[in-house]
Amino acid sequence: MAVTQLNIERFRCVDLAQLNCSPTENLIIGRNASGKTTLLETLFFLGHGRSFRGTPARGLVQDKTDDFILFAKLTEPDGQLGIQVGKGGVTVKIDGSRAHSRSSLVSRLPVQVIEPGIHKLIEEGPAQRRSYLDWGVFHVEQLFYATWRRYKKALDQRNAGLRDQLPADQIALWNDTLIAAGEAVNEQRISYLQKLTPFLNTAGLALFDASLECVFNRGWPEEVSLAEAMAANYQRDHKLARTHAGPHRADIRVRFDDRLAKARVSRGQQKLIAAGLILAQLALFEQERGKPAVLLIDDPAAELDRHSLARLLEYARSIPAQRFITALEQEVVGSHENSAVFHVEHGKVSPEESE
Ligand SMILES: Nc1ncnc2c1ncn2[C@@H]1O[C@H](COP(=O)(O)OP(=O)(O)OP(=O)(O)O)[C@@H](O)[C@H]1O
Ligand SMILES: [Mg+2]
Repeated sequence: MAVTQLNIERFRCVDLAQLNCSPTENLIIGRNASGKTTLLETLFFLGHGRSFRGTPARGLVQDKTDDFILFAKLTEPDGQLGIQVGKGGVTVKIDGSRAHSRSSLVSRLPVQVIEPGIHKLIEEGPAQRRSYLDWGVFHVEQLFYATWRRYKKALDQRNAGLRDQLPADQIALWNDTLIAAGEAVNEQRISYLQKLTPFLNTAGLALFDASLECVFNRGWPEEVSLAEAMAANYQRDHKLARTHAGPHRADIRVRFDDRLAKARVSRGQQKLIAAGLILAQLALFEQERGKPAVLLIDDPAAELDRHSLARLLEYARSIPAQRFITALEQEVVGSHENSAVFHVEHGKVSPEESE
């Protein structure tokens, strides 16, 4: 799967653009504030229904306009998708017909990003790591989305019941669904992480000649079932009005060179480790789904020395994914066979003519 054409209207500084993309590599070159990250953001938005910069959708609409439209044509048989965000809300179209949920975008266009803030995946709280994990589980374990939704709905209802101080027998009404769906979510995550392990190994060796591992913490103690953990936590849940045990509290501990990454690595190393996690996921995606995903790499040179940058680019280029890479100057990222080069200036995109 690759994006063959990308159309953008009124998204941040890009008023109007059409990019005819290379299925292998696309280099986006321009000065500061020219619109490079914005171009990557449009692809991320098409594949996630949100920005990776945390900007709410309304903030992405170009100043003094009312809506933005993004459209992508994909290689056959993956069709095309579009999204419009404006005062009337969000409209998603898949193959020209209206789609009802964001998940249809996510499943049609698998996109991951390595951007200058990616070290947060290692450094910050568990929510980002859960979201990293679940992107992969969603794309590889077929039943995950439905199971997760069942779990989340039961969890929200139980938490609402706890906030309303309902009696224990009423709170217990949600237990069966919560426990069955929660155990299933957990099993799908474990199965995914098992498949990911050899790819993490390869990424670790390729990027820093050291081991890279994710140790799973499922969100309740290993020695008890979810039912037992919920029973043991009931008083605390009741007092604090929220459910403490379950897969919504899961995390992964990232280990690098046999040590906990969070505890002792530099910012540049954090960035390389996080990139390794993402690249391993994309390699696994291709193996499991038989087609490449889209990889966005924003300003890879930021915070990496020349040697680390070269290793990152070399490994990223060895993975079957369609790449979009930004840089201030093309020399920084070199080029690859069949790369398309786009120059960006004040939100205007021009393709470089190939000789
Ligand atoms: N809603 C908006 N409407 C119009 N312009 C916007 C909007 N949001 C952001 N911009 C502008 O878009 C420009 C391009 O931002 P972008 O982050 O894409 O640049 P960049 O090329 O990645 O720069 P850098 O090399 O510094 O990372 C900025 O000047 C920013 O002010
Ligand atoms: Mg940028």
